[in-house]
Formats: sequence, structure tokens, C-alpha cells
Amino acid sequence: MNTQVTHTNRVAQAIDRIIDAGDFTRIFIIADTNTAKLVVPQLDSKSCTGAQLITIPAGEKNKSLETLSKIWTQFSDSGATRNCLVINVGGGVVTDIGGMAAATFKRGMPFINCPTSLLAAVDAALGGKTGINFNGLKNEVGTFTDPLHTIISTRFLSTLPPHEIKAGYAEMLKHAMLHNNETFHRLLRNDFKQSFDTDEFLNEVKTSSAIKLQFVHIDPNDMGPRHALNYGHTFAHAFESLAMMRHKPISHGFAVAWGLVAETFLSHHICGFPAVDLYALAHFVLANYGAFKITCDNYETLIELMTHDKKSRHGEINCVLLSECGKPIYDQRISKDCAMAALDVYRDLMNI
Ligand SMILES: NC(=O)c1ccc[n+]([C@@H]2O[C@H](COP(=O)([O-])OP(=O)(O)OC[C@H]3O[C@@H](n4cnc5c(N)ncnc54)[C@H](O)[C@@H]3O)[C@@H](O)[C@H]2O)c1
Ligand SMILES: [Zn+2]
Repeated sequence: MNTQVTHTNRVAQAIDRIIDAGDFTRIFIIADTNTAKLVVPQLDSKSCTGAQLITIPAGEKNKSLETLSKIWTQFSDSGATRNCLVINVGGGVVTDIGGMAAATFKRGMPFINCPTSLLAAVDAALGGKTGINFNGLKNEVGTFTDPLHTIISTRFLSTLPPHEIKAGYAEMLKHAMLHNNETFHRLLRNDFKQSFDTDEFLNEVKTSSAIKLQFVHIDPNDMGPRHALNYGHTFAHAFESLAMMRHKPISHGFAVAWGLVAETFLSHHICGFPAVDLYALAHFVLANYGAFKITCDNYETLIELMTHDKKSRHGEINCVLLSECGKPIYDQRISKDCAMAALDVYRDLMNI
């Protein structure tokens, strides 16, 4: 695995440099209905003049075989070959499905990721996983394929809706907790009143993506240490599933923020994670993300969901725990009693 990543707000120059260095017969740009309108016109890359734009409908439900098939059809009708280049311009939906389309068409066309959401910039566009949802299951089919290059910019975040900024920021908090106390506390000082399309914030995004890439590099095929990136996600996935059952879906990033609170309590309870940092996290999450409302009546369902999460093994709940920021212990079995206690404390900390 060899992911080339450039952090720059001079995106056009970065794209031109890559295209000039290659010998591509044709360029395809894949975007969704939002990024085709708001971001693609801003690219200003001279090398992309004449590129063929493939627009897919925005939204997670379109990360589907049907959309993938439409992209393949457009490649095929245009006579695309392995000498063409695909540029994915969008959030995680576009980088996942565009990456898979490129990885599979003609057994693999080179592609560049230009993530335009914060979540894609610090997470989805990095690490080589591509995929689609299938048979009602998330990311059921996909590949591990590295992009030729990933170009990360904060320039496009000016049009990203505020709740999407917060969603990506939750993954940044997770990365910070896996890294060190200083990065974690620096992120907690944000009040979301600042602009995010700045060079200063690009530095923060660079730190965050570097943390993800560290885990990817030591474990490219996700066999062990990379599982640490699931911190907060066991509870987050259960909260997301419960919300789906209530027919009121919640954003993955918000679920991660709430999941971090529950799993940081477990980290405190089982591994001695400092209480003061748990309270600082809970205060930040409540102030900026509000709370996902649960009652005791939801506990059995949540425990059941966590027990059958794809991360669980041998019918036990599996979580990443931290003894302190920067010290993750992955694949920890959690007893049902501890998980219940975490839900109690989550409710206390979130004032519900
Ligand atoms: N491959 C991986 O390792 C990995 C990791 C994490 C998440 N993911 C996947 O990423 C997806 C979620 O990514 P996401 O949160 O970016 O969702 P998304 O791609 O749906 O983007 C969120 C919304 O923001 C819009 N948008 C994106 N950039 C914009 C911009 N600059 N201005 C205005 N609107 C913009 C999109 O059109 C969409 O409506 C999920 O499918 C998830 O499974 C993949
Ligand atoms: Zn996540």
C-alpha cells in the first residue's frame, strides 16, 4: 500500500502536476449532484478542460450497485481504458463508489480522490477502502485499492453544511484521542464559530489524516492495529441502528461523537482513562452535538445490536479502549454489565 497524499489549497495546480506527469488519454470526473454544482466549477484545472463529468445523485442510498452500474456504463459507452484517469470530487459516497468503479472497470483504472467533505478529507478518502452498500448491508462489496493520489484541501468546506462539518469533526476528535492529549484538548477549544476553509484549519486536517494514515500503514488490510480506528464506533453503530428502527436516522458523525462518550467511560472504568478528560469530552459533545435520547427501555436492544455488530466476536461486545489519549487497546471484550453501566453514565453525562 502506498497512498500519496497532498494537503494543499492550490488544488488545480496539484491536479495539473499529476496529470502532466502521466500520459492519460482521457479524464473522467465523478461528482454528486451537490459537488458537481458547488465544487467542480471551482477546480480551475487546465488539465481538466474537456474532462467528462459523471454526476451521481447525492446521498448514502445512492452508494448502490445501480449507481455503480451507471458509472460503468458511462465508462464503457465512452470507450474508457486503463490509460484514462478518474478524479473523484465529493464526500465519502463519491470517493467510495467512484474508487470502486475505477478499481474494477477494465480491472483497474488509476484514480485521484479530491475529498470535499470534512469526513472524507480525514477519513473516507484515505486508506484504500472502496465500496458500495449491498443487500441492505453497509459497505458489503468493495475493494482495497489505493488511489494514485489524494488531494486534501479545506477550500471546498465553505459550502459544506454546518452539520456535515460537525460530523467530520467527530472523526477528528476520535483521531486526536488515539494520538495524544495535546491534539485532543486543542480540538476541544473549537466552538464551530470559526471558518473552516482556511489554511490554518488545513493544518488541523493534515494532523488528523496523518493519524489515520499511521494506522493504515501499519495494518493496510485491517487485520489488527487498524481496528483502533473503530474507537467510539461500537456504540455509534448501535445508536445509528436504533435511530433507523425509530425511523429517525441520525448522522454517522454525530453517532460517533455520542459513541465516544460511552466508550470513553468504559476506557475510564476498565483502563483508568483520566476522568477529567472524560468530562471534558462529554461537555464538548453535549454543547455541540446535543444528545441522542435513550431510556432504560432501549438498553436490551442496544446490547443486542452491539453483540451482533460486525466487530463483535464469539457473541461478545467488542470495543477499543484507551488507557489515556494515544494509548489504544483494540479488540477488548466488554461484558453486558459494563455496557449497561456505560449507557447509564452516557445518560448522566448527556443530562437525559
Ligand atoms: N472508505 C472508507 O474508509 C470510509 C471511511 C469512512 C466513511 N466512509 C463512507 O463515507 C460515506 C460518508 O461520507 P460523507 O459524510 O462525506 O457523506 P457524503 O458523501 O454523502 O457527503 C455528505 C453531504 O455533503 C455534500 N457535500 C460534500 N462536499 C460538499 C461541499 N464541499 N459543499 C457542499 N456539499 C458537499 C454531499 O453532496 C452530501 O450531500 C459513507 O458512505 C461511509 O461509509 C468510507
Ligand atoms: Zn466513522
